[in-house]
Amino acid sequence: MPTILSGVQPSGQLHLGNYFGALAQHVALQHEPGEHFYFIADYHALTTSKGAAELRERVRDVALSYLALGLDPAKAVLFRQSDVPEVTELAWLLACVTGMGLLERAHSYKDKLAHGIRPSVGLFTYPLLMAADILAYDSDQVPVGKDQVQHVEMAQDMAGYFNGAYGEVFKRPEARLPAAAAEAKVPGLDGEKMSKSYGNTIWIFESGKALKKRIGAIVTDSRPPEEPKDPEGLVPCQLLKLFLSAEEYAQWCERIRAGGPGAPGYGHLKLRLQEAIEQHFAAARAERERLVQHPEQVERVLRDGAAVARARARATRDRALQACGLR
Ligand code: ADP
Ligand code: TRP
Repeated sequence: MPTILSGVQPSGQLHLGNYFGALAQHVALQHEPGEHFYFIADYHALTTSKGAAELRERVRDVALSYLALGLDPAKAVLFRQSDVPEVTELAWLLACVTGMGLLERAHSYKDKLAHGIRPSVGLFTYPLLMAADILAYDSDQVPVGKDQVQHVEMAQDMAGYFNGAYGEVFKRPEARLPAAAAEAKVPGLDGEKMSKSYGNTIWIFESGKALKKRIGAIVTDSRPPEEPKDPEGLVPCQLLKLFLSAEEYAQWCERIRAGGPGAPGYGHLKLRLQEAIEQHFAAARAERERLVQHPEQVERVLRDGAAVARARARATRDRALQACGLR
């Protein structure tokens, strides 16, 4: 049975991009045969931390979100990365067999430099810790968005360097891109990729007036409804596509392409989007509200998850220490 593992950084309020690109897939995958590990990458979040209180709140939010969206602790192990300190130890062992050049080629690091971020050593070595996360649990498959594939490939490389130097210790993981989301980047309010860094997000659990306001801010243009348009080019449609059935979406598209008096205006599209989002997350929102009242339940899940994850990571760490001569 394969081991399937992924992590989500608690570095901002989770948005629809994170939902479609990560959490929804993780929740769906738990039904596949295999062992499932999902964790809150709180060590990684320290590379961009805005303080202790905020980090605690973000960790809580990721845990609540996973559980509210249906992650079942009986099927998948949910845990906090920092509850398994063995991964930092493994990261050091990997650091000592990895050349600087590999890390210098990381796209996400180069992007951050290009955006003028002054990197910490932690940001530079981020892929080492991520490789340790992946290798610690003997992961076979790592479901990630496109942007993380290079990091998984680096984990393959690092496993190879270590095994080459000390013998077979680490299992080679494979990235697993979801078929649909592989090409689908969820657009933000401005039409760019939805991202917390761009301030163009819709929070997963947003509802009512707040949601209406966010949706109202989605970019449109001044073309009248009657003018025939390409629906794929309209941001409200790109978002609607994620929520509507294929049939209903096709009907909206047809009317937009045809134009004329029967064509919907941007207001209509936004209204339908609001309803669709409210409905899609109704059950999860209710469950989240329930869980907020029971923090001890959430904590118990994380603690039980950590115990399982830690046992696995310890075994790998011991194997690695033995192999390289530290035991
Ligand atoms: P952000 O861009 O807000 O900083 P992260 O980089 O923390 O988000 O992304 C966490 C996960 O969510 C990654 O697996 C990433 O692939 C996915 N993700 C983030 N934004 C989007 C998006 N707009 N569309 C699809 N997936 C996304
Ligand atoms: N870097 C991932 C992200 O930003 C989060 C992450 C950390 C991760 N460790 C991981 C994902 C291990 C998969 C496997 O989305």
